Amino acid sequence: MKILVTGGAGYIGSHTVVELQQAGYDVVVADNLINSEKAVIESIGEITAVVPDFEEVDLSDPSQTESIFEKHSDLAAVIHFAALKAVGDSVKRPLEYYRNNVFSLINLLNSMKKHGVNPFVFSSSCTVYGQPNILPVNENSPRKDAESPYGNTKKIAEDILKDEVDASSLQCIALRYFNPIGAHPSAIIGELPLGIPDNLVPFITQTAIGQREKLMVFGNDYETKDGTPIRDYIHVVDLAQAHVIALKRLLENKQKDPWEVFNLGTGNGFTVLEVIRSFEKVSGETLNYEISGRRAGDIEKVWADTGLANRELGWKAERDLDEMMHSAWKWEKALQIKNKH
Ligand code: UD1
Repeated sequence: MKILVTGGAGYIGSHTVVELQQAGYDVVVADNLINSEKAVIESIGEITAVVPDFEEVDLSDPSQTESIFEKHSDLAAVIHFAALKAVGDSVKRPLEYYRNNVFSLINLLNSMKKHGVNPFVFSSSCTVYGQPNILPVNENSPRKDAESPYGNTKKIAEDILKDEVDASSLQCIALRYFNPIGAHPSAIIGELPLGIPDNLVPFITQTAIGQREKLMVFGNDYETKDGTPIRDYIHVVDLAQAHVIALKRLLENKQKDPWEVFNLGTGNGFTVLEVIRSFEKVSGETLNYEISGRRAGDIEKVWADTGLANRELGWKAERDLDEMMHSAWKWEKALQIKNKH
């Protein structure tokens, strides 16, 4: 069965393509490579012994989107990762985020409808919950006003999908990711941040390897056990495997509702300092860090109620924080060697 994976050269996309291929699916990757590298497609081939089909297209252009469906007339489903995702950047260039993230979704849905492709897995985010009033946060918790244009594109995309599911034969599962970190255990693929990382873990590993001078810990005056914010970090391989399960659920018509939403996290929250301790433990490195002021837009704490995903998908994150940090460090070291050649 052939699956279209948009953004399949990106961080979560590439790990998902590996899991899909290992589960026996054929994959077509569509990616415009603005935040990813073509070499990742070859790396996927190195892991799975199958190089996925690759189409370099911009999905915000309807004719380029349509060209994929014309060329691959046998697509069974779509997993949609392709999107701009930097929170700070989205505040500076909102129109670019709305244009890219919303247009590409609409173009895909139009082409899917035209070609009779119904199953759709969407990359959503726990960002739609903002700071929840009750923790852990479940799928019925209210979605709050988005803190950034990026966050708003996820919220708008969920609304578009829900409306389209009501109006058509589209079947959709939206997966709300908590904080994906780590890398494939082979260290052949992983996160490739463009420029200075915004996210915690690539910043930690780049600091430890000597590429950044020090990590700034954004605030230690939150109401948490050590004052630093709490997140639900999830191993990217666990996350990727959840996509394969969600896809199967759609393909086997096992959905309870044509529109379903699942939280993907571990259900455990860790503070920034706990993440640093875990990194230091598994790497044997001492991290240079300093407490600085809070980052605008950061929430204090969030972690997932994963009960619905556990029950309905039969999925549970298996990898713990140490394993996440170990794989992230292994990947960073592999990347340094790669970059030297
Ligand atoms: C952010 C986005 C989220 C998005 C996700 C994508 C916000 C509010 N949320 O999550 O919507 O889906 O990225 O990856 O921006 N930290 C430091 N120093 C650093 C970097 C981070 O102390 O240099 C802290 C942050 O304050 C936070 C934690 O580390 O407490 C995790 O930060 P990050 O990795 O950027 O993820 P989020 O902000 O949770």
